[in-house]
Amino acid sequence: MTVPRKVKTAYYCSQCGAQHSKWQGQCRECAQWNCLIEERVPTRTTRGGATPMAVAQRLSEVTIDRQSGFTSGIVEFDRVLGGQLLAGMTVLLGGEPGIGKSTLVLQAAEGYSQQGLRVLYITGEESLPQIKRRADRLQVRGDNITVVNCSSLEQIVDRVATNEHQVVIIDSVQTVASEMFDSPPGTVAQVREAANKLITLAKSGGWALFLVGHVTKEGMVAGPKVLEHMVDTVVYFEGDSSHLYRMLRATKNRFGSIAEIGLFEMAEHGLIEVANPSSLFLTGHSDEPRSGSVVAGIVEGNRPILVELQALVTAAGYSNPQRVAGGIDNKRLSLLLAILEKRCDYPMATNDVFVSVAGGLKLSEPGIDLPLLVAIVSSLLNRVVDPKTILVGEVGLSGEVRPVTMIDRRINEAARMGFTRMILPQANLDKLTDRPIDLTGVTNLQQALEVVG
Ligand code: TYD
Ligand code: MG
Repeated sequence: MTVPRKVKTAYYCSQCGAQHSKWQGQCRECAQWNCLIEERVPTRTTRGGATPMAVAQRLSEVTIDRQSGFTSGIVEFDRVLGGQLLAGMTVLLGGEPGIGKSTLVLQAAEGYSQQGLRVLYITGEESLPQIKRRADRLQVRGDNITVVNCSSLEQIVDRVATNEHQVVIIDSVQTVASEMFDSPPGTVAQVREAANKLITLAKSGGWALFLVGHVTKEGMVAGPKVLEHMVDTVVYFEGDSSHLYRMLRATKNRFGSIAEIGLFEMAEHGLIEVANPSSLFLTGHSDEPRSGSVVAGIVEGNRPILVELQALVTAAGYSNPQRVAGGIDNKRLSLLLAILEKRCDYPMATNDVFVSVAGGLKLSEPGIDLPLLVAIVSSLLNRVVDPKTILVGEVGLSGEVRPVTMIDRRINEAARMGFTRMILPQANLDKLTDRPIDLTGVTNLQQALEVVG
């Protein structure tokens, strides 16, 4: 009689992939709650042979093989990847479902195909006619694009190991599953195994690999977070699916800067590059000046963007006052309101405050503090801020206005977009020599509220 072998299981964090021997409420590594999932520990079926000893070299004698990469011709996309796609480069493209990842990779694939590169597009989510329909909509010819619907890791490996393609796209990595594992596709073990195999093959075969990964708001089964440290470049495609704009942002890049962003607009025939973002986020501004509306000069990545911030302040009922922030961290809003109440004596505790960023952009840069507070006071007092004035500045806990980075870029963008005056931190103004528009420096919030008029 054969005794069945005991199946070994472990608990994996669905956010960061850390392995735990026992279930616990919180992940030891990333401190997330309720994210451990029981999975079978993969049993090794084959033992790898001894690998040859790696050659050690004096650093000064290491030569760099300057390979030239490929571009897709989509400037906003290429820039975020660090300028070009290099042989053997592995890229994780993450984003919420429906944000436009498949659209973006198909458009990029067409770009590479038009440069004569052979692209293999492996989909586990859509049928080939569905892909074809999207390609027609995007006017993608796909002369050098081969599409295949497949989710078996073993079959994918056989196909890509021929090294016939220079670019391989896996849409999405969560649909790929190895037959060696019992766990369903999308689990940490499966996703990690698939990524591991494919990344190794991409490096040895010298082709570029794109792994598309879904992220959900509530944290998905096997987050792309598990893969972040395995790939060379991590880019996230963000945006509000109820708005048209999309932002591509690199959070890791072994071959380039992570300060670059790519902006797109989702249109009838696919994603269109946005070369002039300020015009997108200022649509409707200054047609008819309103209280509670202020333009902020922000920097996303290395790019100056002017955005309209809106605030609505109304008397609170008998309940707790409401604070609702769209595109801005709620805690940051509460903090700014506390500063306003304490330092400038505005009665915020008895008012509901709603703020939003026009266009649905999500902002985390500190330079929005001052314009946001001015917008709130403008709404509270029902006083219009001059629509040709732009504001920027970080506000500290004692109400002081602190300097921001890249002030020249913000000023030049404001001048280019026809603004005539900027209210900015005095510390920034002190260092400036060139003044293309009227600049007013302020040292604290109170002073800013006075000069704004
Ligand atoms: P998709 O690329 O399928 O998203 P993901 O792969 O991230 O899940 O795009 C989904 C949305 O984009 C879908 O709701 C329809 C919209 N869309 C357009 O508006 N225009 C287009 O040309 C295309 C192809 C899609
Ligand atoms: Mg998709």
